[in-house]
Amino acid sequence: MERLTSPARLMIVSDLDHTMVDHHDPENLALLRFNSLWEHAYRHDSLLVFSTGRSPTLYKELRKEKPLLTPDVTIMSVGTEITYGNSMVPDLGWVDDLNHKWDLGVVKEETGKFSELTLQAETEQRPHKVSFYVDKSKAEEVIKELSQRLEKRGLDVKIIYSGGMDLDILPQGAGKGQALAYLLKKLKSEGKLPVNTLACGDSGNDAELFSIPDVYGVMVSNAQEELLKWHAENAKDNPKVIHAKERCAGGIIQAIGEFKLGPNLSPRDVSDFLECKVENANPGHEVVKFFLFYERWRRGEVENSEAYAASLKASCQPGGVFVHPSGAEKSLVDTIGELRKHHGDKQGKKFRVWVDQVLATETAPGTWMVKLDKWEQSGDERIGCTTTVKFTAKEGEGLVWEHVEQTWSEESKLKDDSSWII
Ligand code: GLC
Ligand code: MG
Repeated sequence: MERLTSPARLMIVSDLDHTMVDHHDPENLALLRFNSLWEHAYRHDSLLVFSTGRSPTLYKELRKEKPLLTPDVTIMSVGTEITYGNSMVPDLGWVDDLNHKWDLGVVKEETGKFSELTLQAETEQRPHKVSFYVDKSKAEEVIKELSQRLEKRGLDVKIIYSGGMDLDILPQGAGKGQALAYLLKKLKSEGKLPVNTLACGDSGNDAELFSIPDVYGVMVSNAQEELLKWHAENAKDNPKVIHAKERCAGGIIQAIGEFKLGPNLSPRDVSDFLECKVENANPGHEVVKFFLFYERWRRGEVENSEAYAASLKASCQPGGVFVHPSGAEKSLVDTIGELRKHHGDKQGKKFRVWVDQVLATETAPGTWMVKLDKWEQSGDERIGCTTTVKFTAKEGEGLVWEHVEQTWSEESKLKDDSSWII
């Protein structure tokens, strides 16, 4: 969060399963649309927060399966664990607050008396979260009875039902809503309260997110019955909360537009980049657009025309160099030439390219360094690299690519890189 020196223009706090991630869309199209929009228009001055019920173990698994961006803040285990940045540094102050009237041993002892409860996987049992599965028909009764018993034992807990099957027991002070309130308070104390905050969710454990004052909310179209019921009973007159028409990340993009929180046209929704060339020179945009073009080129979705090749070559410095992650060096112009030969080679294949953490710095007037993580998914293989691009602004020509340098990401070092072009 230190990255931003002033209040974020927008802070998105989103659930993952069935909100940011659509498990019914193997192509991840809405998620990829959101990713391009975020990196294009928001990354540099806004904050991305993921708030998931998953434990750190299952969260990391999801990141391997789906093209998720790297959030600034990760809230896991239903608002009981908060971490910051790429290295996921835990917020120890938050954990301290959770021990009030909480005793894991007592929760386990009392829940053990309910035959209706089936314990979830070991990874999902956390210091401040005990999780079970329970049948929809039994949930209400079990929650009532269990609350009374735990209260009698001197505990103050919160019992949350999600997805028509999951039952979580947390300390009263925990939960996604409380974690968001804590984060807002922390940002405010640093003088960095976001200008706007948008909470996004689909199930019971997200309900609390929609009751935090001054926060916009979107329940995606595919929201669960228990969340819609909560909304009808508790928040139906709040104009800041909408039920989107679109599923998952599509609903988030829709809400950005409806609440007028900023741009909501994803670069993925623009079919011809040549047409939007004369935009304000912005190096971050150039990179997002280029890698999207690269995906479309190899998928054979853009025409193999002279105009494209000429336009790309024209935006490269004649003596510019590309340092391939293997260490090999080529001229940028030759690299574009090579790209031409690969037109359509991924047609009909599962091939996607996305960029993460695109950050541009003006190192001297008219000179920019853009750093980003670039990912390429081909079939079930995924390869990533850290990329640095140097741009210079040329009178009348816009931004010119001067130098590109890539290094494999940690997990990609051992993989085959034979089809890697740029
Ligand atoms: C995630 C967690 C699970 C929890 C559920 C609902 O699926 O893995 O433990 O019960 O979210 O909060
Ligand atoms: Mg969900």
